[in-house]
Amino acid sequence: MIRMDPVSMDPVVLRQAFSCFPSGVTAVCAMIGDTPVGMAASSFTSVSVDPPLVSVCVQDTSATWPRLRSLPRLGLSVLAEEHDTACLTLSKKVGDRFDGVEWERSASGAVFVHSSAVWLECSLYRELPAGDHGIALLEIDALRADPDTPPLVFHRSRFRRLAS
Ligand SMILES: Cc1cc2nc3c(=O)[nH]c(=O)nc-3n(C[C@H](O)[C@H](O)[C@H](O)COP(=O)(O)O)c2cc1C
Repeated sequence: MIRMDPVSMDPVVLRQAFSCFPSGVTAVCAMIGDTPVGMAASSFTSVSVDPPLVSVCVQDTSATWPRLRSLPRLGLSVLAEEHDTACLTLSKKVGDRFDGVEWERSASGAVFVHSSAVWLECSLYRELPAGDHGIALLEIDALRADPDTPPLVFHRSRFRRLAS
């Protein structure tokens, strides 16, 4: 008989289980006035082709998401394997999140991390509450993909690279 641990026992155990699922990492960024604002998010998922939708899950405690969510356009960058330091910078609580991060903006104010594997220019389609996170569905308005750029991989709280 298989023995399993009750989920309520310890959130650390749950987080550890979640961390076994490898993911890419994205940056969700946009201009607010003359300043780029953004955050790293590994919860990115492709959702729908028609309409073209992706999602990210954002923790309710985020101070950055409430600033981003009302903007007309958001830039979503699928980070490349060279972006491990940039990813940490883009998630830090204090200081300049774009320090040492090369970025570009679109005319609509979406901000993209330079040399990423994919750029998606998005607008917020819908938001769904989900426990201590919100699921933000984003509709893709424009994109640029470089399939030959190796992505950054996040697994068990560490950055990894795909084997070539
Ligand atoms: C690799 C990595 C992945 C992350 N993924 C998410 C995520 O999917 N959703 C989220 O809300 N925060 C995620 N974060 C945390 C945010 O980047 C950020 O640190 C957090 O939102 C706190 O900052 P804020 O209060 O300015 O939003 C991630 C951080 C790292 C380093």
